[in-house]
Amino acid sequence: MLTNKRVVLIISGGIAAYKSLDLIRRLRERGASVHAIMTRGAREFITPLAVGALTAQKVYTDLFDREAEQDVGHIRLARDYDLILIAPATADLVAKMAHGIADDLATAVLLATDNPVLIAPAMNPKMWQNPATRRNVEVLRGDGKHFIGPNSGEMAESGEAGVGRMAEPVEIAEAAEALLSGADNAANKPLSGRHIVITSGPTHEPIDPVRYIANRSSGKQGHAIAAAAVEAGAQVTLVSGPVSVPDPKGVDVVHVETAAQMLDAVTNALPADVAIMAAAVADWRVASEGAQKIKKDGSGKPPALELTENPDILATIGHHETLRPRLLIGFAAETQNLLENAKGKLQRKRADWIVANDVSPETGIMGGDANTVRIVSADGVEDWPDLDKGEVARRLVARIAKALDD
Ligand code: C5P
Repeated sequence: MLTNKRVVLIISGGIAAYKSLDLIRRLRERGASVHAIMTRGAREFITPLAVGALTAQKVYTDLFDREAEQDVGHIRLARDYDLILIAPATADLVAKMAHGIADDLATAVLLATDNPVLIAPAMNPKMWQNPATRRNVEVLRGDGKHFIGPNSGEMAESGEAGVGRMAEPVEIAEAAEALLSGADNAANKPLSGRHIVITSGPTHEPIDPVRYIANRSSGKQGHAIAAAAVEAGAQVTLVSGPVSVPDPKGVDVVHVETAAQMLDAVTNALPADVAIMAAAVADWRVASEGAQKIKKDGSGKPPALELTENPDILATIGHHETLRPRLLIGFAAETQNLLENAKGKLQRKRADWIVANDVSPETGIMGGDANTVRIVSADGVEDWPDLDKGEVARRLVARIAKALDD
């Protein structure tokens, strides 16, 4: 319940603003009083009259409302309330917040507050996936702001599908409730006191001093899991192959190149409560790495590369008598027979769960920002919808926290 909670609801300009009207009802039926701020954009979509009728409170629209400012209006809105909820939050508002811009009442309140802020973004999928928005969201998460959604599905205005739809009013009201309930402060850090080891990215297997064998893994999913685990309070060791994504904040990162180095780094980092092997480890390496750059010998015949098998890190840990963590999670990136292969890996490598995904080129998963996964375990198969890699990470972390508590 939100009994006696005072919520400032910032409505910014997007078609999802029509859902804010329902959100007001959901918040009020849980006992909250709702004090709305509407940006200029929001007023293009819904009217202050409708919002005021549903909140039964004054609706704030302008930074320099003389009546309210005599009362230090925007500072009061920033301070005297339990929660600031932004729904819908446009890409523009998210960007302004991330940069501390305060050029209207909504952004001034957001800059002046130290109360919890919950953001429900709503934007076109391309805007959500744009690297600028990705950066802004990471900055805000780092600043301790909370997000709910966006969900995947069809966009109201364009019919385009993807991640960007505002979360449903009930989901937002529940997230507000969870955030404000005392119990949630512990629940916000469900992995505190846990150590988690994660592998991420590709490995590079040298052919000679200048060449190597690699794969298309970007490290985005493994790094997102590391960030989500830290956010959930875990102590995280991330063993990363060569990637261009930045080290997540608050994580101990060990940078490696080869599978052999990755295995060493993982065994050094153990013991842990959980290990998540998200790296795309090369199955083979060149048997004898050339000490010098291999040259054409003029015969027209290419050199033969003899390969030898790499250690399987997941299987090694899975079968280890002392180092195997309580929960061991592998990934299975496949282009065919997804489930069959994932189930095989679960058994062969002695993993508890396999996060399986189809990485056929047409899915765009490898290197992309979205992922469609299936969680395979002894209990069966769970299909997840198409989600942002950050959201896959947070759901996985929530599932891990639950499994450790059971
Ligand atoms: O390569 P494969 O599809 O078998 O990988 C499945 C799982 O095994 C992944 O979690 C991957 O990180 C792990 N693996 C590993 N060491 C290898 C190969 C794969 O840890 N040499």
